[in-house]
Amino acid sequence: MKVLYPGSFDPITNGHVDVIQRVARLFDEVIVAVLNNQSKEEFIPLEDRLKLVREAIDDVKNVSVESFSGLTVQYAQTRGADVIVRGLRAPSDFEYELEMSQINYFLSNGLETLFIMTNPKYSFIRSSRVKELVSLGGEIKELVPNVVFKYLYQKMPLRK
Ligand code: PNS
Repeated sequence: MKVLYPGSFDPITNGHVDVIQRVARLFDEVIVAVLNNQSKEEFIPLEDRLKLVREAIDDVKNVSVESFSGLTVQYAQTRGADVIVRGLRAPSDFEYELEMSQINYFLSNGLETLFIMTNPKYSFIRSSRVKELVSLGGEIKELVPNVVFKYLYQKMPLRK
């Protein structure tokens, strides 16, 4: 079975990596689909987000990393994915994810979304918080892959 794991990955965090590693043990093939969203303000350019995801999960063999634009379900169908997977960190994620999975089910005529519960070690990590922490001089070394840590400290100005 082939699974699509879509997201912004702006940047990829250790929580995402944990989801990818666990999903890769459950499915034959995992496609990590990085959103190329023209309208959303992403801090990290698409090419860099792709590179960081690839480097962060380099050791996971049955995973490919691709970019997509438009609807997730359309991309999932184009790539022949059997299912979409999303991580759930906390109950607060549930409302948004429930709606998105139901829209995707409706749009695709039945493509299922499976949820995987984030490892509690990472349940408080989100990409936007990581960027905020870096800009304010907070410690993020244990929250993100090493490549992301180096990248962010090179690219982000420290706010005083
Ligand atoms: O990492 P994120 O930002 O939580 O990922 C959100 C993502 C990319 C999965 C979501 O925004 C998405 O699917 N965008 C593509 C557009 C789409 O399909 N919208 C309809 C579903 S509500």
